[in-house]
Amino acid sequence: MGRVQDKVALVTGAAQGIGRATALLLAREGAAVAVTDLQAGEAEAVAGEIHAAGGRARAWALDVSKEAEVAAVIAEAAKAFGRLDILVNNAGISGANGTAEETSEADWDQVMATNAKGTFFCTKHAVPLMRRAGGGSIVNLSSVYGIVGSHNVAAYHASKGAIRIMSKTDALAFAEDRIRVNSVHPGFIWTPMLEAGAQVPGVAPEAVHSAMAKLHPLGTLGEPEDVAHGILYLASEEAKFVTGSELVIDGGYTAR
Ligand SMILES: NC(=O)c1ccc[n+]([C@@H]2O[C@H](COP(=O)([O-])OP(=O)(O)OC[C@H]3O[C@@H](n4cnc5c(N)ncnc54)[C@H](O)[C@@H]3O)[C@@H](O)[C@H]2O)c1
Repeated sequence: MGRVQDKVALVTGAAQGIGRATALLLAREGAAVAVTDLQAGEAEAVAGEIHAAGGRARAWALDVSKEAEVAAVIAEAAKAFGRLDILVNNAGISGANGTAEETSEADWDQVMATNAKGTFFCTKHAVPLMRRAGGGSIVNLSSVYGIVGSHNVAAYHASKGAIRIMSKTDALAFAEDRIRVNSVHPGFIWTPMLEAGAQVPGVAPEAVHSAMAKLHPLGTLGEPEDVAHGILYLASEEAKFVTGSELVIDGGYTAR
């Protein structure tokens, strides 16, 4: 028996990075997985990997910032697999670097639309289906940047802080429906998002990688699977008494 045997999961932003690792792990542990992402071809490839390993999956193109798309894809996925038990709100963007003074309204809106509004839309449309299934688990990707500040990604911090407190609010709102809602707070995880952010003109990528690793007392960056295992725990019945909590997976980044 897998740890999420016969459950149905929908993962957003599942084409690469943490979302991809999560989709693969949930499938390996017995869930049928709706693999959703803006990048339709890459989402298809992840669903293909799951099929090749003997799992159940289907891919959907989904932009989480568009409510009509969210409503349609969540309904279709639940119809295709018969129910919805697990939602992983993983899709996210870091947006442009900048302090509040340097951030444009357009950059702010784009980050908030994907990270905060996307999490809100997916939750809103998943809850009725989970209620019908007798309960469920929603796992929201916040960040260590939703707990502590840094000097130059103002919109991203605001969006991840919003996700942290939305998780607690939704945990309270839907507890009587046996829908658990928790947030996950990764430190720096080596994914395409971090790789893109590590392009510093005139500095070798290895030097940036090593400087980022040193921010973590354990001395390394995290891997997508480190986060996927935490998400799997929160998604599973092992966490049946866990809601409104914050799972920090950060190599000690916030322990100081
Ligand atoms: N990598 C890190 O260091 C780190 C640390 C803390 C938190 N996180 C969070 O974890 C999550 C995953 O991060 P990652 O590093 O794997 O990122 P990534 O950029 O590697 O992958 C994100 C995925 O989300 C998709 N996406 C972007 N906008 C979307 C939209 N509007 N609708 C649907 N899909 C969309 C992208 O196509 C991509 O496949 C994000 O929410 C991120 O903020 C990452």
